[in-house]
Amino acid sequence: MKIGILTSGGDCPGINATIRGVCKTAMNHYKMEVYGIHNGFRGLLDDEIVPLGESSLTGLLSMGGTILGTSREKPFKKHSNTSLAEEKSAAILNTIRKHAFDCIVCIGGNGTQTTAARLADVGVNVISIPKTIDNDVWGTDISFGFDSAVSIATDAIDRLHSTASSHQRVMVIEVMGHKAGWIALYSGMAGGGDIILLPEIPFDIHRIGDAIIGRLKRGKPYSIVVVAEGIPTLNGKKAAQYIAEEIEYETGFETRETVLGYIQRGGNPTAFDRNLATRMGGHAIDLVAQKQFGRMISLKGFDITSVPLSEVAGKVRLVSENHDLIVQGRHMGICFG
Ligand code: F6P
Repeated sequence: MKIGILTSGGDCPGINATIRGVCKTAMNHYKMEVYGIHNGFRGLLDDEIVPLGESSLTGLLSMGGTILGTSREKPFKKHSNTSLAEEKSAAILNTIRKHAFDCIVCIGGNGTQTTAARLADVGVNVISIPKTIDNDVWGTDISFGFDSAVSIATDAIDRLHSTASSHQRVMVIEVMGHKAGWIALYSGMAGGGDIILLPEIPFDIHRIGDAIIGRLKRGKPYSIVVVAEGIPTLNGKKAAQYIAEEIEYETGFETRETVLGYIQRGGNPTAFDRNLATRMGGHAIDLVAQKQFGRMISLKGFDITSVPLSEVAGKVRLVSENHDLIVQGRHMGICFG
């Protein structure tokens, strides 16, 4: 069989490990040919496609980013200009036919899963693999990239503790996650945050102020506040700036903000992400070999399985208020807003 592989959406640690898993399994175990499609779906539009061989895979397991390049091109997105959408769809189908691909493997987040589902709808054989630091892809318990981002954010929170306690300040740290609070919850709990704000849980600034003043009364004149970038703010302010200003106004405490930003997406994957990415890549090729197309690889508990792309498209996986980390955190006195 001849397969094309692309990576689309924001980069994250573990994409290259997945490419390696896909390619090595395809070439070594199934004797398939693999072609790299450059810059996500844009590579299908522009026919930027190169054969991948053993030599393309050296050093990929631990390497950040994606050797194939990525873009946020969404060729099936409804435009006001319908003829442009039709042109793009025709160009993609032409490229796939020209190369006679038996399957396209798409590695990406929510936008990619939706585009992959549209590709499947127009008759293309597709298998997708969930990738995002945000962990918000519906249908999988964990996406690779998440563990690495949590580990980077936790390290940053650990480092803010010493400044917070030395200066007796409130330190607000903003982490990524888009509309979901997964990174804030996991890094906030692992980093010993005192207040953790997620888009999924409405917050009250008075309760946050009370929590900070309560800590002062218990002999802790500093606090660490972890905020997800997706919490609601006023006047278009970034999450950390908004919360820091509100806390200073509410409590009179000296407050500083840090926006962790793209550091969370860069660099080496953790061992967990390397292994998850490797397994997901290999299982994706098993599905290709079995001709079970139109599915997304997923992790359920400890097992790798798959779900129909039609069920994944258009959905977002959010944190539930019953999540055990929130329940246990609340029991311990951590404020979730
Ligand atoms: O990859 C997911 C994510 O990191 C989100 O958390 C963030 O909002 C977004 O990407 C920003 O990425 P970009 O600037 O590449 O669109």
